[in-house]
This record gives sequence, structure tokens and C-alpha cells, in this order.
Amino acid sequence: MHTVAVCGTGYVGLVTAVCLARFGNDVIAYDTDHTKIAMINAGRLPFHEPALAPMLHTCVSNGSLRFHTSAAHALAGREIVFIAVGTPVGPLGDADLTYVRQAVKEIATYASSDLLVVNKSTVPVETADLVARLLERYGNGRRRLMVASNPEFLREGTAVEDFMHPERIVIGTDDDAAAALLKNLYAPIDAPVLVVEPHTAEMIKYAANAFLATKVSFVNELSNICDAVGANVDDVLTGIAYDRRIGKHYMQPGLGFGGSCLPKDVSALAHVARAHAIEPAMLDAVLDVNRRQIARAVSAIEANVGDLDVSTGALLGLSFKPDTDDVRESPAIALARALLTRGATLRVHDPAAMTAARAILRDAVTYMKTPYEAAQGAHYLIVATPWENYRSLDWRRVYDSMQRGNLFDMRNALDAINLRQLGFTYYGVARPAPAKITA
Ligand SMILES: NC(=O)c1ccc[n+]([C@@H]2O[C@H](COP(=O)([O-])OP(=O)(O)OC[C@H]3O[C@@H](n4cnc5c(N)ncnc54)[C@H](O)[C@@H]3O)[C@@H](O)[C@H]2O)c1
Repeated sequence: MHTVAVCGTGYVGLVTAVCLARFGNDVIAYDTDHTKIAMINAGRLPFHEPALAPMLHTCVSNGSLRFHTSAAHALAGREIVFIAVGTPVGPLGDADLTYVRQAVKEIATYASSDLLVVNKSTVPVETADLVARLLERYGNGRRRLMVASNPEFLREGTAVEDFMHPERIVIGTDDDAAAALLKNLYAPIDAPVLVVEPHTAEMIKYAANAFLATKVSFVNELSNICDAVGANVDDVLTGIAYDRRIGKHYMQPGLGFGGSCLPKDVSALAHVARAHAIEPAMLDAVLDVNRRQIARAVSAIEANVGDLDVSTGALLGLSFKPDTDDVRESPAIALARALLTRGATLRVHDPAAMTAARAILRDAVTYMKTPYEAAQGAHYLIVATPWENYRSLDWRRVYDSMQRGNLFDMRNALDAINLRQLGFTYYGVARPAPAKITA
């Protein structure tokens, strides 16, 4: 059993705190956001994440997990502290380390005993050096403060499963004692553990996200070419997936990547490259292709619907992907905004992200309680986020309630054949209607 503090109770921090408490550690998580801590202390999650709530309640009830707003209180007598604060994109596309700096300063000030400071936030190469310098400056040498990088690879929507059963654990440190302590903490997890020096650990996280983003942009560029030549991109992807060097994972055409990680991390890696006089031609192209997907979608909708300011659209899905309420850099929100600037009237629905979306889109759209209400009387319907329950809607009912049956399946999530048979004018991403074969 270890005594652990977790700085930040967002998607990464709260999942880390709950899972480490579940392994039998004594965990205190703290956050500067008083509303968030009050919510958690009242037994409610501050965001949507499947499987997290029951574990949170168990750990709070058995006393292994507590929450505070005071760093001093949370850090007292701890062996390990995880930093899980945000690292948003800065004005130059770089990573903004304001929250990390602040967190480290507080840790150095309030640590009451020797402490291992572990950075879980996604940060540019050399941040571990910065953390060590800040600890030295503000810690006054009163205690031994060790440093490690431990990038997190969890995905929102499957965060608990990902934390409990990761594909690998990366520990970046030059300190043998720090590596041993972290290995011991993670001993209940059955996963390969890679101990590397801190710069490499930081680079592994950026490399992973940049590669995933590259796959998405590659597939999107491919789908644009397929669209132009009348090829079916789903079948093309199936055809190449048989080659095990290529595979089938993370190869979904659509509106592009979003969320709080991929866009900012690719941008930050490109910034790191430029800072070292390397032109990141590929990373720039990945971001560029991604940006263009929204404009392509708007053109496709406009070309088929006509003037957007005289019709009503239903937009299903607002979160950046299913099973989360996170709308940061959501392609669905970007699409809504782009359509609104073209005069569209939108009735929107999302199973979890309505509150978060309202904070961005405000009164510019109408929020509907069900997808059926959103579709009622609409001239066109867009599936922007492929939530599972949209696949199993009563699509006949949807069709019957719409004024016109234009359906834009922007994630190729639906059964095109079935929907065309129901009467929809179906548009997928490079999913051409089968040619009529005449004898
Ligand atoms: N969200 C993901 O899926 C994911 C996955 C892997 C890695 N990451 C990385 O993990 C980091 C955190 O991401 P997130 O999505 O959990 O962020 P988040 O914005 O959901 O949460 C960050 C939390 O930190 C708190 N905070 C900021 N400064 C603080 C301080 N000084 N003391 C205490 N609390 C403080 C904020 O109030 C907020 O609640 C980022 O670097 C991100 O890139 C995120």
C-alpha cells in the first residue's frame, strides 16, 4: 500500500485516483476547481465516464479515497504525487505549461516529506527537466523530491478499462529508486513496463498520438480520393486491413480527429520540431487534412440540401467521440458552427454532451431531448458522432417524421443498404450507392 496524492481531478486525474485507490492504496486527490470537488464529494462525477461512478463510491465508502481543494492538506505525508493537470495548446501551437508550473510550485512548497513527483500530463520533451528545476527552486532542499514521467494512454469512454488493463506502462526517470517505487505501485497491473529516460518517455506519448492522428488523416485523404473516383472507402479499408502491417484499427473515415489530446499534441510536437530546426512537413499535413474535413462535409451537405437558411437540420452527436461528454475540439461542434455560419437552423441531440455543448453553442441551436424529436420535421439529418444508440434507432420512424429524407452519415456508422431501402437519400463518406445493373 502506498500513500498517493493526485493533482487534478479531470478525466485523467480522477480515473487515476479511483483506480489506484481500487488497488488498495491510500489516495487523496485535489483540485483548484471547488465546484468539481464539491460535486465529487456529493457522490457525483464531474464528467461522463462509463464504469467510473461505482468504483468511486466503493473507494470513498471504504476510506481509501478522499478529495480536497487544499494542496497542503492533500500532500501532507504522501510518498507519491501524480500531476494530471491540463496542458492546453498555447498561442503558437506549443503546449501551455502554466498549470504544470503552478502545480509543481505548490508541490515543492507543501511537500512535508520525501516525495516522488510523477508527471502524467502530456508535456513536451524536456518538461521533466523543468519540473526538477522548479522543485529545486521552490523546495529549498528541505526534502528529497524525485521526478518521473509516466505518460497516460487512457481513452475517454473506456478510461477505467484502459487504466486497469493498459497495453504498456511507460516510466521515464533516471532515478532507480523512483523507478522501483512506480513499478511497485503498478505491480497489480499485468502489462509490459518500459523504463526509459525522461525525454524518451515524453516523446513516446507524443509519438503515439501523432501516429494515431496520422492514421485518421491518411484515411480521410484516402476517402476523399475514393469519393472522387467512385470507390467505396469501407471496402478499400477492408482490403488493405488483411495486410497485418496495416491492420484495421483506428481507420475510420469521417469528420476527422478531435478531443483534448490529438489536435493539441500533434500541434505541440510540430512546435517542438520547429524549435529544433526540423520542418514537420508530415505533422503539418496531418493537421491540414484534418481541418479540411469540416469544410468538405459542409460542401457535401450544401450541395445536396441546397440553401441551408431555408431548411431545418437535425444534428445527432456533439461529443468528440462516443461514450464521453467531452466536446473539446469536437468535430461535431466544429461542423455545427460551420453550418450555422451558412445560415443553418439546427436541432441537436447528444446522449451525454448536451450541457457541455450548450456552454459553447448557447442559443444558436435548439437542444432536443431525443433523436426522434430532433428529426421531427427536419429536411436533413446528420450523424456527427457515432454513438451506439444511433445505430439502433427506429429509422423508419425517423424517416416518417422528417420533411425530407436526406441523411448524412458523417462517420459511416449506419447500415447504408437498409437506410436506402427505407427511402432515405443516404450520403456516407465515400460510400457510393451501388450501380444499378441492367440486363
Ligand atoms: N483526457 C484524456 O483522454 C487524456 C488522455 C491521456 C492524457 N491526457 C493528458 O492528461 C492531462 C490532463 O488531461 P484531462 O483531460 O484530465 O484534463 P482536465 O482539463 O479534464 O483536468 C485537469 C484538472 O486539473 C485541475 N488543475 C489545474 N491546475 C491545478 C492545480 N494547480 N492544482 C490542482 N488541480 C489543478 C483543473 O481544475 C482540472 O480539473 C493533459 O495533459 C492531457 O493531454 C488526457
